[in-house]
Amino acid sequence: MKFDVLTLFPEMFAPIKQSILGRAIENKLIDINLINIRDFSENKHKKVDDTPYGGGAGMVMMPDVVYRAYQSIAGKSNKGKAGGAKVIYMTPQGKKLNQKKVEDLSKESHLIILCGHYEGIDQRVIDKIVDEEISIGDYVLTGGEIPAMVLMDSVSRYVEGVLNEDSINEESFSNGLLEYPQYTRPEEFEGMKVPEVLLSGHHENIEKWRKEKSYEITKMKRPDLLK
Ligand code: ADE
Repeated sequence: MKFDVLTLFPEMFAPIKQSILGRAIENKLIDINLINIRDFSENKHKKVDDTPYGGGAGMVMMPDVVYRAYQSIAGKSNKGKAGGAKVIYMTPQGKKLNQKKVEDLSKESHLIILCGHYEGIDQRVIDKIVDEEISIGDYVLTGGEIPAMVLMDSVSRYVEGVLNEDSINEESFSNGLLEYPQYTRPEEFEGMKVPEVLLSGHHENIEKWRKEKSYEITKMKRPDLLK
């Protein structure tokens, strides 16, 4: 899976190179290419934004600079034609991300992710290149970088070889339910014991207990998922 990220703040993406995704990058299962939009400013001060037409607060990212950054990876294409890549714009106006969407996106081989900053991006370049707008929730962040990391992290988990298959099948949301509780050593912690059934070695009973717990926890914490 290849991710091209168009951003004004490539340094913000350091966390994604740690841990499981770091290993996935090393093993060439995923490739994250950060493109600094500022490198495509033709202004001698490397200006990338300007005041909004019609007035108002904040600054707007200029369409030509964003477009040149996009063309550097996609050539002279319009939306839907970036060599098979899907172009995603991270914005609170987008469709809210969920596990189903994450799984669908993991079937793509190449995603181009556009991160906005300031008051936003000139609408014309959005209209020209973006295939899909995605939000990570109903709250506003200072930019699209953290949402882009959320998207890449959640999608990468579905890329073959990044996780072992069982983790995907057993985790929360994978079967529409939240995951059952987990325990490890020691057998007793602060007077609390590990549920007896998990020590029994009886696989059928363990599976039954886990299914019941999954249902119980979902009913208690996220009854909306049962509808
Ligand atoms: N940019 C700012 N807030 C965002 C959000 N909630 N989702 C995606 N991109 C954003």
